[in-house]
Amino acid sequence: MTEPTTPDPGHAGTGDPREPTGDRPGDDVPAAAWSGVHRGPLREGEWVRLTDQKGRRHNFELVAGKRFFSNRGHLEHDELIGREEGFTVASSAGGEYLVFRPLLSEFVVSMPRGAAVVYPKDAAQIVAMADIFPGARVVEAGVGSGALTCSLLRAVGPHGHVLSFERREEFADVARRNVNQFFASPEGETHPAWELRLGDLAEELPSVEHRVDRVILDMLAPWECVDAVAGALTPGGIVCAYVATTTQLSRIVETLRAHGGFTDPQPWESLVRDWHVEGLAVRPGHKMIGHTAFLVTARRMAPGERPMLKKRRPAPGAYGVDYDGPRPADLPPQVAEERFDD
Ligand SMILES: C[S@@+](CC[C@H](N)C(=O)[O-])C[C@H]1O[C@@H](n2cnc3c(N)ncnc32)[C@H](O)[C@@H]1O
Repeated sequence: MTEPTTPDPGHAGTGDPREPTGDRPGDDVPAAAWSGVHRGPLREGEWVRLTDQKGRRHNFELVAGKRFFSNRGHLEHDELIGREEGFTVASSAGGEYLVFRPLLSEFVVSMPRGAAVVYPKDAAQIVAMADIFPGARVVEAGVGSGALTCSLLRAVGPHGHVLSFERREEFADVARRNVNQFFASPEGETHPAWELRLGDLAEELPSVEHRVDRVILDMLAPWECVDAVAGALTPGGIVCAYVATTTQLSRIVETLRAHGGFTDPQPWESLVRDWHVEGLAVRPGHKMIGHTAFLVTARRMAPGERPMLKKRRPAPGAYGVDYDGPRPADLPPQVAEERFDD
């Protein structure tokens, strides 16, 4: 089945608010949703993403009267302004470009970076598995380049609160620019649910005035913040840490366990593989985003409550003479004498 190439001119709408309205020029996503998304014709001041035939991407802000230059000549911004996204356009030297507004997942991997960003595959896991909900009070640290912040703000919406901590001012500045570029209104208002504070999370979190539902840690040494996180999280709240190496993973899991005020931490990673699908040639793609980082979540127990003792004893030697990290409080004494057989 093929689609008509022009919008149906007879579609005037029924007035039903549930009806999709994107094909009526002028119908934008409600500004009060703070989604960072627009529909309808491309407007001056919006960002667009051009993709050429080799898959190279160019993101730029539409400015009336300006030209976009590439290795295939140029094209006028005015040729794009006023058109519905999802079209191809040719440059002066015959280059062809696909024109869309950038998706959030595209924006965060192309925006300027201070620190390394949380990739979209992991941001999606964090939003789902740390159960970020509309209206949630979320703390994150460090803010880095603001990539995860954008996904958290999308998920909590204007009635939630994302309080981001960052100890390096230059990274906070990069994050502020990126997050505001994605969400700011044409009038320059910034996302009402976002607050950015400079400082070290372990030192600053105790002075936060209210309990929070979720804490997301993306930093080198999240175990240094576990006491502060326990103090800030509401009972049933979730801490989620994102760490790049196995040594970090071990340290954060064992620190959460040794604290005693969290459920047994759940560590995992996600691997995403794309597929080549072309006629009879259907096979895994050659490229794959393999390891990015590990994730771990745990839930805060109520004050004074401890999680249940494990029925299963630890693997032989897991906490034996060769182990020098934090220890769970409830280990049988003989475990400390064991040797680890590898
Ligand atoms: C990998 S980056 C975070 C990237 C960010 N999540 C994103 O998606 O763009 C780690 C950041 O944590 C900051 N950081 C490390 N330890 C911190 C702490 N204890 N408190 C606040 N920020 C911290 C670093 O300065 C750095 O900017």
